[in-house]
Amino acid sequence: MKNAINDHKGAKEYIINNQLKYTFERPLSLLEADFWVNTVENNERRFLMYTIIQFSPTGNANYIAEQLARSLGNQTKVLPLEHTDASKLEKGNHLVVVYAIHAFNAPRTVKRFIKNLPIDLYKQVSLIGVGCNTSWANDSASKDVRKILNNKSYKIIVDKVIAMPLTFIMSFPDDVINAQLTKALLDIEQISKDIEASNISHKGIAFKSNIVTFIGRAEPFASRFFGLELHAKKGCTQCGLCVRECPKKNIKMITEGKIHFGFKCIMCMRCIYKCPVQVITPRISKFIPISKGYSISNYLKDK
Ligand SMILES: Cc1cc2nc3c(=O)[nH]c(=O)nc-3n(C[C@H](O)[C@H](O)[C@H](O)COP(=O)(O)O)c2cc1C
Ligand code: SF4
Ligand code: SF4
Repeated sequence: MKNAINDHKGAKEYIINNQLKYTFERPLSLLEADFWVNTVENNERRFLMYTIIQFSPTGNANYIAEQLARSLGNQTKVLPLEHTDASKLEKGNHLVVVYAIHAFNAPRTVKRFIKNLPIDLYKQVSLIGVGCNTSWANDSASKDVRKILNNKSYKIIVDKVIAMPLTFIMSFPDDVINAQLTKALLDIEQISKDIEASNISHKGIAFKSNIVTFIGRAEPFASRFFGLELHAKKGCTQCGLCVRECPKKNIKMITEGKIHFGFKCIMCMRCIYKCPVQVITPRISKFIPISKGYSISNYLKDK
């Protein structure tokens, strides 16, 4: 074991294989014990300062979550919301929820996750909505999530929107997307500093923003019908990828390999863009998916 580089909240801090590790050589006070999360690794405890939960149907919010984790350092883990049971999360210091904005709101899957989050699990929570712009229209996107968190007495630190490429109806031009990606990295740097310093940073919300968020609450209902419109055209190879990937488990492979779409759709576009042979399409609202598909990786090649 190398020499400890620091004495930190009752633990000796070491760097082993480029990772910060902590060992405890005396019993911790109640305050210290509360500060540490017990992730036991080879008899060492690793302190998890930040837990990032991402809900990212088509990859943008996941990119933001990964970049934020890089910026916050190796005391951070990123978990996909759709595979995480909120009621079974470990106690921690700071929870960051990074979610795609749908119809000026957090998707209903995100709201349900926050509803299931036990009281007192984290000291602080931050919210990052990932939309396609940072105009006033998205300012109120976190409204319902904030309300649930406030009812559970959670302290909200950062509540911000980051703009990333649009993932439905149309693609932004490449120069707009490049500018968005550059700005997103700058935003992440600032958000990361605010989270580390526990700087409360959210702006006042204009009345008109609350109105569009209110109207947007109709979208979760409409999106269920979008799901009923979806079908797999001739050419489906029955690979099952869409069934595995749907965040709502809304797709089933029924008899003779036929693909069936149910009534739980959130209109997230994932199945449409992930299908390797591009055969998933709505019967009527054909203008909603981007015809050439969407993948964030296409825009990150030069980054
Ligand atoms: C059904 C639907 C509704 C959307 N509504 C909004 C919106 O209200 N505001 C916005 O800025 N972007 C909206 N978008 C765009 C995406 O939220 C945005 O491009 C986001 O970066 C996608 O994140 P993801 O790739 O992690 O899913 C919407 C996208 C979809 C599919
Ligand atoms: S991903 Fe496409 S090819 Fe694969 S089962 Fe679904 S519809 Fe068929
Ligand atoms: S059916 Fe497709 S669009 Fe609907 S929630 Fe599932 S993956 Fe998303």
